Amino acid sequence: MKAVIPAAGLGTRFLPITKAQPKEMLPVYDKPAIQYVVEEAVASGIEDILIITGRGKRAIEDHFDRAVELELVLNSAGKSDYLKQLEGISNLASIHFIRQKEQRGLGDAVYCARRYVGNEPFAVLLGDTITIAKVPCTKQLINVFERYSSSVIAVEKVGREKISSYGIIKGKKTGEVYKIEDLVEKPRPKEAPSDLGIIGRYILTPEIFECIEKVKPGVGGEIQLTDALRILKEKQEIYAYEFKGKRYDIGNKLDWLKSSIEIALNNEEIGNELRAYLRKILKS
Ligand code: G1P
Repeated sequence: MKAVIPAAGLGTRFLPITKAQPKEMLPVYDKPAIQYVVEEAVASGIEDILIITGRGKRAIEDHFDRAVELELVLNSAGKSDYLKQLEGISNLASIHFIRQKEQRGLGDAVYCARRYVGNEPFAVLLGDTITIAKVPCTKQLINVFERYSSSVIAVEKVGREKISSYGIIKGKKTGEVYKIEDLVEKPRPKEAPSDLGIIGRYILTPEIFECIEKVKPGVGGEIQLTDALRILKEKQEIYAYEFKGKRYDIGNKLDWLKSSIEIALNNEEIGNELRAYLRKILKS
């Protein structure tokens, strides 16, 4: 299975940090956010990845490329640990890039992948969401997909105040999954059909592309993937799965900070010292 990682958004909510660097390159503890996303795909058994970028996103390509000059310097300085780390990143997977020419929304970004994907089911992992789980989130979805042979999307219960930031599903629980009856992009809380939010991990069948072609601009004047899924659900069952693990929507500042802190707290080298420091500043 191939994976598509849309990473073309402007990162407006993170200005000025994102003025000259892509939001997907923001550090989450010691790695850029998008590296976690690529690692999730790889840990889920995916080796072929297409990242949808846009203007101003070259740093993402550089990050997954070789850094030959740096490697030479590290090599002659005998810093083999760093060298190994760098080589590991550029050998993670077979990564391809394509640019979305205009900011026309997530549905349009995914549409850019149609030729690359061909006629096979594929995974979509949004570049501004990271997940931490024993079994990688995308692997959990692949397992569900293998059982139902139909598109499946990961959801999570979201607080009322967050409902209008997400695609929300209406579904009937059958065993471990929900059979989706409807999906609404960023509804007002009182119009939301449930509190189950789409978290940015999907396994889609290629029929999604013809559905995207039919979508008219929706929320924010954009071509929404959620609206395309709404059309797809008339043709095939779509399932939602409450994934087991933790998710950070690093498109918002608080979650971004939380992700770095939690990952650092679990780090062998600095975790204990950071915990003691946080306790100390919280007391004062
Ligand atoms: C996108 C999707 C939305 C989903 C969200 C998850 O919105 O359109 O359905 O719930 O990602 O992060 P965005 O955050 O790009 O506005």
